[in-house]
Order: sequence, then structure tokens, then C-alpha cells
Amino acid sequence: MANNKESFGSKFGIIAAAAGSAIGLGNIYRFPCEAGANGGGAFFIVYLGIVLLMGLPLMVSEFVIGRRSGKNPVGAFKTLAPESKGWTSIGYMGVVCAFLILAFYCTVAGWTIDAVGKSIINYYHGLDKVTIQNDFNNLMNESWQPILSEGIFIFLTAFIIVRGVTKGIEKFSKILMPILLGILIILGVKSLTLPGAADGIEFFLKPDFSKITGKVLINALGQAFFSLSLGMGCLITYGSYIAKKDNLTSTAFAVCISDTLIAVLAGIVIFPAAFSFGIKPEAGNELAFVTLPMLFDQMAGGYFFCLIFFLLLTIAALTSSISLLEVPVLYLTEQLKISRKKATVYSAIGAFILCVISSESLHDGSPLRIFGLSVFDSLDAFTSTFLMTIGGLLTVVFLGWKMKKSDFMDEYTNGGTVSMGLRRIMYFIIKFLAPVAITVILITQFIK
Ligand code: TRP
Repeated sequence: MANNKESFGSKFGIIAAAAGSAIGLGNIYRFPCEAGANGGGAFFIVYLGIVLLMGLPLMVSEFVIGRRSGKNPVGAFKTLAPESKGWTSIGYMGVVCAFLILAFYCTVAGWTIDAVGKSIINYYHGLDKVTIQNDFNNLMNESWQPILSEGIFIFLTAFIIVRGVTKGIEKFSKILMPILLGILIILGVKSLTLPGAADGIEFFLKPDFSKITGKVLINALGQAFFSLSLGMGCLITYGSYIAKKDNLTSTAFAVCISDTLIAVLAGIVIFPAAFSFGIKPEAGNELAFVTLPMLFDQMAGGYFFCLIFFLLLTIAALTSSISLLEVPVLYLTEQLKISRKKATVYSAIGAFILCVISSESLHDGSPLRIFGLSVFDSLDAFTSTFLMTIGGLLTVVFLGWKMKKSDFMDEYTNGGTVSMGLRRIMYFIIKFLAPVAITVILITQFIK
């Protein structure tokens, strides 16, 4: 199928863009929260297994579907299975899911922007833990400040989207992701030398197999899909921009490895420091937004590291939110023939409204709750443990059972021009192993 729209300029460009989508708040904010709440080492080992056995194959599947069809998720399923309309619901689910994820994602991005502001004025310098904790709680209770930072963040996302995905993201990610990696390594070294750091590392890396429960499995699955940007059509959208000559397996490998590396490094930075400062691993939001400022304050050049780090985190969040907003935008432009500019403005306004609801729901005593959880937490849990896992399941089922095997192999091997030693194993995993494993995890969860 012809793919004559813009495509990424180089092999490294697509890796940078997909890694840019994957690497973000999910790695540095959400991964430590999930690992901390789900037993540390037990979570970590399950997480690694899931990335390899389900994340990687699902990523390949999304790339294959996107590049084969050259379309947004709704158009992709329409093109690849024109006679059975049901499959397009995966695409629609993705469009809805993008808004729901954006709503809480932008809330967290807003806190990050707030941290940038505080770093600039050297606000954190010399503050004790309780003060930073109180400030963070106060921020959540403010009415205007979070809305302002969220607005700035969504505006920046929309601005880059209007200019077209491939040029903007490629340039950003290529330079900034390696810098983020470098800074995390420096922070890791510092964190590991703090008094009491060993307990944090033991918690994070030493698996206690008796702690692997159904809850750990579903949360690790949700976190893996969230962190790799899977299960809602995001990488189908990016797949549609991949050039026909690029190797899909090595691209997916590179993205999975870099994303996992950043998450692991984030754990190595955060847990030793958190243990050293007396912040509990279940502390959630505070793991990133209280531990890190305290860590910087103990470092030589702390002002500089703090500022650069939160700036980079904002940019990492932007390259992720771009990939989220691109899903509805590409849907509106390709399926409903709306101009790119209008599609972006409408989508950004929609995301902003939801985001305001999500952040207002974190006010003390806010009535914005669903089943006892704040809207913010509900959106997070509902998308990652439900919508995205179902979306991922349906995607691998589509590829394994609906699409012709010869079509899959043709796309996967670039028309037979690259020999893929792994192709049979990959196909087996996509057709049998991944669907069964995801179903089992979902069922154990539902039975509870
Ligand atoms: N993966 C990103 C992160 O870790 C967030 C993200 C971008 C995402 N696109 C997505 C999550 C699609 C789920 C689905 O920060």
C-alpha cells in the first residue's frame, strides 16, 4: 500500500521519535510510583518479562499495522479489514483513550513546569522535607496555578503538532534524550552514595517472588503499556510515518531498550534517595516531586542539575504528549477531512477541559470522584489497566488472527528484503503467547 505522506528522515529519526513518545513522565514519575506501590523488586522482574514478551511484540504489531495501512488507527483498521467494521472500534477506542490519558498526563506535566519555575528561582535550596511536601500539597489545592501550567503545556504540545510531527520531534528527541540519560547517570551515582542508599536499592532490585500477586501483574502490564506508549494506536500513528525501508524489529528493540533503561535509572536514582530521606516507597507523587528536589539540594552544582533536569523532563513529557495528541489530530484530518490546524485546536481544547477536571479533582474534599478515587487517579487506572490492555489484546489478535500471515511477513520483512531470524518466534508470540498472557492477567483481575 502506498505511503506517500511525510515520513521520518532517517532510521535514527524514527527511533528518536518513538523513543521520545515512550520516554516521559511514565518513566520518571509513574514507574517509581508503581514499583513502590507493588513491592519493588517483585514488580521490577515482572515488568522486565512483560516488556520483552508482550511489549516488544505489541510494538512490532502496531508498527506493522501503521506502516502497512499508512493511516491513523481508525483508518488503519478500515483499510486492512474493510469488510469487518468491528475492528475499527480499536481505533476509536484509541482516540478516546488519547484524551483520557492526556487529561492526567498534562496534570503531572503541570507540576513539572511548576518545578521548573521553582528551580529557576532556586526555591528548593535549603528547604526541609516537610516544607517541600507541604508545598507540593498546596500546589494541588491551588485553583489557578496548576491550570496555568497545564495550559502552557497543552499550548506547547499543540504548537509542535501544528508544525507537523516528523520535523519537530525528530530534531528534539535526537539531542535531548541522550542528555537526559547522561544526567540520570550522574544523579544515580549521587543517590547511591547517600547514607542508607543500600536499603533503597535492595527494595527496588531484589525480587521477593512471594510478593507477585494478580495486582502486581496487572499493574506491571499497565505500566509497561503506558511506558512504551502501547495499546491505544499511538504507535500505529507513528508507524504510518515510518519509511518502507526501515527495519521494524530493530526499531522496536531500540525503543524498548532505551525506554526500559531510563525507567530503571529513574528507579536507581529515586529509591536510594527516598529511603535515605525517609520517604516511603508507597508515597506516590512525592517520590519524584519531593525526593528529587531534596537530592539536588545535596549535590554540588545542585541548582544547575535541578533546573536542567526539570527542563528536560518537561521536554520529555512534551515529546510524549505530542504523540498522544497526534492520535485524534490525525484521525480528524484523515477521516473527517478537517484541516490540521483546526483539528489541533479542537483536540487541544478538549484535552485542556478534561485536564482541568482532572487536576481540580485533586483538591482536598473535591467532589470530583469516581468509585471513591479522584478523577485523576480513576483516569490513570482506567486507561492503563483497562482500555490500553484491552486495546493491546485486540491489536495482537487482529494481527495474528485477522490479517493474512503473508501480509504480516511481507510488511515485517520489508517485502522480503531483510531476513528476520526472529520472524517465526515473533509471529508465534503475537498469535498465541501475548493474547493468552494478557487475557489471563485480565481475567485474574476481573475475578477479584
Ligand atoms: N509513554 C509515555 C510516557 O512514558 C506516555 C505516552 C505517550 C503514552 N503516548 C502514549 C501512554 C500512548 C500510553 C499510550 O510518559
